[in-house]
Amino acid sequence: MVPSTGCNKTRTAVFISGTGTNLKSLIKFSRNAKSPISIDLVISNNSKAKGLDYAKKFKIKKKVLNFKKKKLSEEKLLSILKINNINMICLAGFMKILSGNFIKKFKGKILNIHPSLLPKYKGLNSHKRVLNNKEKYSGCTVHFVNARLDSGKIILQKKVKISKNETETSLAKKILVQEHKLYPKAILKAFNL
Ligand code: GRF
Repeated sequence: MVPSTGCNKTRTAVFISGTGTNLKSLIKFSRNAKSPISIDLVISNNSKAKGLDYAKKFKIKKKVLNFKKKKLSEEKLLSILKINNINMICLAGFMKILSGNFIKKFKGKILNIHPSLLPKYKGLNSHKRVLNNKEKYSGCTVHFVNARLDSGKIILQKKVKISKNETETSLAKKILVQEHKLYPKAILKAFNL
């Protein structure tokens, strides 16, 4: 469980690398009175990430760190998070792997969304591997982040049925729709709400 910070919402940073549709859904959720989190910072490793437009649109502070020198970027990141009083991190399509040292500093306070029914299909290209293996179902998972990739404690999952003639694109689209609903639900669960 993520400890709540009294009557104030928990100040949260969302880390992205791409289109940021999960970021958008989290921002909308965070602005609901029932949300235990506020989104106060968006971090991207990619200055061209489309998702950064949502930070602009919703007037949320944003920072780009390229992660080319991981140790240095993580040190900068930790100080940015501290300055902004961030207490929780939601990874949403963030394509960099955080170090064990970084994760330790936010122990139990980093969540991630992955487009498969973990523990199956960890890592990249999940949809492709799911289809190659002729699975009947796939889905998405929100989990706590630990030092091993896509292996932390599962908070919530949503299953989707794979259709006849399913393609990687159609499956990704179908799962993404569910991701947008699952992440807010998982946050409520992580806060015991
Ligand atoms: C999502 O499918 C997420 O699960 C995966 O990357 C995708 C990001 O989509 N890790 P978006 O940037 O939130 O639109």
